[in-house]
Amino acid sequence: PHAPAADAPAGCPAAAPAPALFTWEFAADPYPAYAWLREHAPVHRTELPSGVEAWLVTRYTEARQALADGRLSKNPVHHSEAAHGKGKVGIPGERSANLMTHLLNIDPPDHTRLRRLVSKAFTPRRVAAFAPRVQELTDHLIDGFAQRGEADLIHEFAFPLPIYAICDLLGVPREDQDDFRDWAGMMIRHGGGPRGGVARSVKKMRGYLAELIHRKRESLGDTAEADEDLISGLIRASDHGEHLTENEAAAMAFILLFAGFETTVNLIGNGIYALLRHPAQRELLQKSITAGDTDPLTTGIEELLRYDGPVEMATWRFATQELTLGGQRIAQGDPVLVVLAAADRDPARFTEPDVLDLTRRDNQHLGYGHGIHYCLGAPLARLEGQTALATLLTRLPDLRLAAEPDALRWRGGLIMRGLRSLPVEFPPE
Ligand code: HEM
Repeated sequence: PHAPAADAPAGCPAAAPAPALFTWEFAADPYPAYAWLREHAPVHRTELPSGVEAWLVTRYTEARQALADGRLSKNPVHHSEAAHGKGKVGIPGERSANLMTHLLNIDPPDHTRLRRLVSKAFTPRRVAAFAPRVQELTDHLIDGFAQRGEADLIHEFAFPLPIYAICDLLGVPREDQDDFRDWAGMMIRHGGGPRGGVARSVKKMRGYLAELIHRKRESLGDTAEADEDLISGLIRASDHGEHLTENEAAAMAFILLFAGFETTVNLIGNGIYALLRHPAQRELLQKSITAGDTDPLTTGIEELLRYDGPVEMATWRFATQELTLGGQRIAQGDPVLVVLAAADRDPARFTEPDVLDLTRRDNQHLGYGHGIHYCLGAPLARLEGQTALATLLTRLPDLRLAAEPDALRWRGGLIMRGLRSLPVEFPPE
């Protein structure tokens, strides 16, 4: 990544130079730079590593406001550069693959219709019923390294758990799930890198999903409705007699995979890392789990999301008309990135925001977004996060970091925040 040196905006004291954004140092710890932006340039125009210019919104109040502002569209056709063929937003390969009509790329009324349909199939009840399977998967993955005394918790734990979980939930047959793991691995490893590989993976995933959906439609009704997988539920879901088309169902399955995968990898990875660096907090959590008190685990997952959440910036938004945000004029067509990681450390909203406090109660963080695009998968993410952390801390209570924090590398993507690897050691089980 390069480092465009942002100039201090007019009216700011020249003594405080703007910090460099998008460098390796920034990726390792963006929080000091975000503190500077919140204070001096809360709605800040900058050039992103891709060359696209966008506004970064870093204060809690404006962030929440922007997430709920109907004048900020999710549809990339509103991007001023899209009109000139320069649009560099979205998932590589996705445009051609016709998976564009998913929730994170559309506005009401289409969004309202699709979200209502998917909500009928992807219910909290379905997620709750999935808990034993998440536990089984978690234990199976820990079995794979528990006797070795060391592991890379990203590759062997945080990465495979969500992909197998979402595949199971959707109804991807077990024998095909390793293909998904490989495609997803390509997307996560090279998200900002060689486009060819990612585009190919997206294309393969799309082809597979289209065929799977077709097959599921043919066999709809062979299984009792209560035991149906999520894809069959999506096909069956109807709203005022309306159903998803096969293409819409494919795009929906894709966005569930795409939105529910790397996010959860990072929730587990960032969460374990934060606990390893805060021994007193980790001890508090371990003791409460052993004592059967689930309270700190519940509040703790929310605090880990606030403190170092998986989604550093909410996905793209584009101004459909000129508007003012935090005193800044934003022109029609300008891209806006709401920096959730910065908003969630805003001292104007959170007491001692840089302190990790797993028992924090006043914690309306923006880690899952806000407004009509609020995370649809939050119940599943919570289930996976709680199961993963509780099981790991119970089975390997003496887990410790096997690398200096400075030696750890963070993935350099724009939207997500997560570690490339997390080496740990522990007395073998
Ligand atoms: C939307 C975060 C897990 C599915 C979002 C948004 C955020 C978010 C911030 C809003 C983006 C925006 O407004 O630009 C997270 C985090 C997760 C997580 C932090 C894990 C800890 C999941 C899972 C699934 C999922 C497991 C599904 C399996 C979705 C979908 C949307 C969404 C479908 C789009 C909703 C809409 O546009 O109406 N998520 N997510 N997420 N998330 Fe999640």
